[in-house]
Order: sequence, then C-alpha cells, then structure tokens
Amino acid sequence: MPPAPSFVDLQPSAGSFLEDVLQGLGSTPKAISPKYFYDARGSELFEAISGLPEYYPTRTELALTRDCAADIAAAVGAGCLLIEFGSGASLKTGLLLRALHPAAYVPVDIAADALKAAAKRVAQQFPDLPVVAVCADYMRPLEVPALKDIAAPRLIYFPGSTIGNLTPAEALEFLRRARELAGRGGAMLVGVDLKKDPQRLHAAYNDAQGVTAEFNLNLLRRINRELGADFDPGLFRHVAFYDAAAGRIEMHLESRVGQTVTVAGQRFVFAAGERLHTENSCKYSVAEFRRLAQSAGYAAESVWVDGEALFSLHLLRG
Ligand code: AVJ
Repeated sequence: MPPAPSFVDLQPSAGSFLEDVLQGLGSTPKAISPKYFYDARGSELFEAISGLPEYYPTRTELALTRDCAADIAAAVGAGCLLIEFGSGASLKTGLLLRALHPAAYVPVDIAADALKAAAKRVAQQFPDLPVVAVCADYMRPLEVPALKDIAAPRLIYFPGSTIGNLTPAEALEFLRRARELAGRGGAMLVGVDLKKDPQRLHAAYNDAQGVTAEFNLNLLRRINRELGADFDPGLFRHVAFYDAAAGRIEMHLESRVGQTVTVAGQRFVFAAGERLHTENSCKYSVAEFRRLAQSAGYAAESVWVDGEALFSLHLLRG
C-alpha cells in the first residue's frame, strides 16, 4: 500500500462562479476569467489541445524540462519543498521530481478531483515522497498551516505559461506574493511562452480541427449546466488573434446575432458581433520576463530556451 497523500481543503470560495459570471456579463466589454474553462470537459479539451500539431507550448515545455532537469536540480539542490501551482494532470512534474529529490511535494489546484487524482498518482510513483495536496485558488494569498513544519527551502513551480493569463501588472503582483510564499532561500521556476512569429501564434489558437473553438465554447455549456443559463453555443463564434502591441493572444466568443441570454434569472443583451472576452495569453521575450521578475524583487538566475526559441523556463531567486 503506497502512503495516502494528505489533503488540505482551503475551500476556494464556492459560489464565486455565479457572482463572477453575472459581474462579467454585466461589464462593458463583457468578460469572464479563463480559470472557468477547466470543468471536467474543459480539462479534457485542454489535454486534446496539448496534443494538436499547431499547439507547440505543451510538448516544447515538456522536452525543455527533460533537457534541463539536471541543470535545474544542480541549481536548486536536493531536499527542497516543491510547491506546484495549477498542478492539473502534469507530466512535467514527474520529470522534475525524479531530478530534484525534494523533501516534500505540495500540488496546489482549484479543481479538487483532478488534484486528488494527480496527488494519488504521484504518491504511488514516489512512495517515499511526502505529498500534501492543497485545494486552493493560488491567485489569492495562500496560508497553509501544514507547510510551516517543513523547514526545507521552497521552490515554487509554475509551469504551462499559465502566468500568461495574467496581464503584466497582475503578473507582477502575483510574482511578488509568490516570492513571499517562497520565503528566505526560496526560488521560483516559471514556464513562459515566448514572443514569436505572429502566424505561428495565430495557428496555435485557431487549430484546423476546431478543438480550441470547442474549448472556448465549452465555457457557455458549463455556464448553462452549472448556473442554469440558456446560451445557444451555435449562436457564438470562436475568435482568437494576436495583438502585437499588447504582446498577447486574445480569445473571445462573438455573438453571431443580436440576442438576449438569461443566467440565473438575469437577462443580458448581446448586439450582433459583440464579443465576450474569455482569455488573454501574454507572450514575453526573455528580457521582458526577466525585467518583470526583477521588478517583483527576484534575481533572474537562469533561463532555458528550446532550440526553436518557442518556450522559456526561468529560474528566479527570491
Ligand atoms: C494553459 C493558459 C497556457 O494560454 O495557451 C490553450 C490555455 N487557451 N488554448 C494558453 C489555452 C487556448 C493555455 N494556458
């Protein structure tokens, strides 16, 4: 019997989905946070996106992590407390755990079921590794009593370029808070998608099979199911484009017609062509991200980039 991972539920504010959706639909322009993409179906669709020929980030980051795992381990040293934000179904974690030999592993995720399943898998694969799964929204300040007893220096791992979902100003705030959580002698390892040929970026978010469109439209299906709404996904169109000035991909759902939608008894009017903003995915050059990290108080210690310069992995010292 492998040891069971312990589970800490910080109850990432149940009920906020409805509040956020009502607020987002009532705003101008309309917007909903990309964190709501990931219900069970959304997580499945993201897994499918990860395997698409056009979507380079996941496979590039995986190979990059494999190639530089030994370097990372040499820089960080054995016996750290590894805290992973947004652990999801991550394959990269196994690579890192094997190279790093951490004192303990703390996956943090907002999705309780996916988190429990992932923690169980890791505990089975690494029977000697203490695993403390924390269900929490890592975008908010994190207080985990169970971690206070572990004296090891902390490494916060934030892969997947999820940091790109934040605006640079939000990312700065987030990096500052993570630096506090990492504490004295702490470090952060962040996966960041790089700026590149806009056509390549455009293709990655407008795949030929339409999986990204399904992923985007699934947000409406989730709202229908969980919040008693009456969106007709057929009346919305997936829109994704690269805004070079802002350095980001934007995803939207564009209303094909003038229509009224009801969510929990409240009515919202969409003009024909009106857009609901569902995601930003910010891209950074190596220099830009280093500057951002330095503004948050880190020393930018190392950066690894794949041979095609598609993706970067930054090691920041707190
Ligand atoms: C998981 C946030 C990194 O921004 O590329 C994939 C999500 N959105 N296709 C990204 C996503 C559309 C992805 N992140």
